[in-house]
Amino acid sequence: MPIPRSLTRRALLFAVAVFLCSALTFAQQQAASVGGRQWWQRAVFYEVYPRSFADSDNDGIGDLNGITSKLDYLKRLGVDAIWITPCFPSPQVDFGYDVADYENIDPMYGTLQDFDRLITEAHKRGIRVILDFVMNHTSDQHKWFVDSQSSRDSAYRDWYIWRDGRGPGQPPNNWLALFGGPAWQFDRQTRQYYYHAFYPQQPDLNWRNPAVEKAMFDTTRFWYQRGVAGFRLDAVDRLFEDPELRDNPIRPGLNSFGQPNMEPKYTSNLPEVHDVLRDLREVADGYDAVLIGETWTSNINGLKEYYGRHGNELQMPMDLMFATVNELSAPEFRRQIAAVDVSGGWPVYLLNNHDVVRSYNRYGDGQHNDQIAKLMAALYLTLRGSAIMYYGEEIGMENKDPESKDDVKDPIGKLGWPITKGRDGERTPMQWTDGANSGFSTATPWLPVPASAKTHNVESESKDPDSVLNFYKRLLSLRHTEKALLDGDYIALNADDPNVLSYLRRYKDDAVLVVLNMSASEQSITFDLSSLGLASSTAQIVLANRREHRLQRPLRSITLDPFAAYILKIPR
Ligand code: NOJ
Repeated sequence: MPIPRSLTRRALLFAVAVFLCSALTFAQQQAASVGGRQWWQRAVFYEVYPRSFADSDNDGIGDLNGITSKLDYLKRLGVDAIWITPCFPSPQVDFGYDVADYENIDPMYGTLQDFDRLITEAHKRGIRVILDFVMNHTSDQHKWFVDSQSSRDSAYRDWYIWRDGRGPGQPPNNWLALFGGPAWQFDRQTRQYYYHAFYPQQPDLNWRNPAVEKAMFDTTRFWYQRGVAGFRLDAVDRLFEDPELRDNPIRPGLNSFGQPNMEPKYTSNLPEVHDVLRDLREVADGYDAVLIGETWTSNINGLKEYYGRHGNELQMPMDLMFATVNELSAPEFRRQIAAVDVSGGWPVYLLNNHDVVRSYNRYGDGQHNDQIAKLMAALYLTLRGSAIMYYGEEIGMENKDPESKDDVKDPIGKLGWPITKGRDGERTPMQWTDGANSGFSTATPWLPVPASAKTHNVESESKDPDSVLNFYKRLLSLRHTEKALLDGDYIALNADDPNVLSYLRRYKDDAVLVVLNMSASEQSITFDLSSLGLASSTAQIVLANRREHRLQRPLRSITLDPFAAYILKIPR
């Protein structure tokens, strides 16, 4: 039946009014929360791996409507922004990190209209949406590469890195791909090699070509105009390679693919990266957007460079050194926090993401896992800086690694088996209930659900006041309301203690004291808070990962049970 014209117009006007209202509410909420800081400095980000979050159409793979249906949960949890890993059309060789079209949504995840609805609904709840920007490489199915590969004369030939071999059957140099094998793939038709830092199906873009830069920058504008609040920049250190193609130095030993270890001297972190970041930042600033970097660095100086000399590159380079501390070590965390805290840049902390084994496994001792999960949350969510959570950490999700090579989905795991089992283990379906497929889908999920879903799931944990989930909720609420946690300085205490990490967050007369026993034995720790001008007699515990505690007043010493974590408020 044809719809009367007047009705369509009325419907349209109504839709526009609803959109404007939601946009206004969002803008008002955000303006109210800024108060001297940028919105992203106050924000807790939450990474959503769309394949695994919520499956609205029950095909075993999560989707955008699934994410939209869980926004109320995310709001109640207390996150301010979600980062969605790639949901663009893709052959899924690297599960979306091989993009075939930067300005659309993969049908397996939904449509652009679904995306718009997700943005509108997220904004209604005061949640911003960040996308993943895979800028180093495209899929080999992207139309730019298909054209580029078609002939040496293609208009897109120079959009990628094509070179002659050193000789018959010999690649241009010794560079190895990060995901195993040589970094050069021979093309029989045009008889040249193309460069790929990751899989052969992920050819590297040539960022020395201004047309590439323009097309990619326009992509960010396309999404900003749809309401996106920023990007997480994938593999940002890999954008440029040495134009002379010099061999990378070889280091002793073999990597997990059985190949020689290689120092990425000519393939990573070239100075030209920073020129691109400055320009990309200019575009982002026009939209009040944030740029978060996937910044793998081995020391603080490397990380500092990503902020830019004048703070004009990435607002949030991720401190991935912190995310890969693999033992509960008070001195190591203390050292790292101190380094980034005085770096001059705004710190960015995370413990988990879709590429690293979940912190529940990395720090858990098998006996006190939930308590340790709360301890780690109490650590990184009370530091000065922005925090990025990973879906499921708030319910204590654990890795479920594949048991045999045949079960592996991640190509890295197939190639590196059994030394590396790939990243499937940290990408399993979100655990919503204790029911079939953990309430993620009625169909068999693309990855299996860990057995711990029976106890560690949103539904059950919501009812248990002592659950990991309820601890996170209280912690996030505290983080958003305590002035000292929002804006306070970081002041390390008891700097020589090998087991207990303790610090103050202090803003004017408000102070919050955090005390974390990172050891499996009882510890006692003494404080001299009066020397800092604080009235220790009034200290109150505002959050702890244990019910029982032995707190003496005035607060001069605390005896801590194994893995105990306390957050105390010291009122003025
Ligand atoms: C980093 C992403 O986090 C990872 O999942 C991906 O495989 C590589 N970049 C290649 O895009």
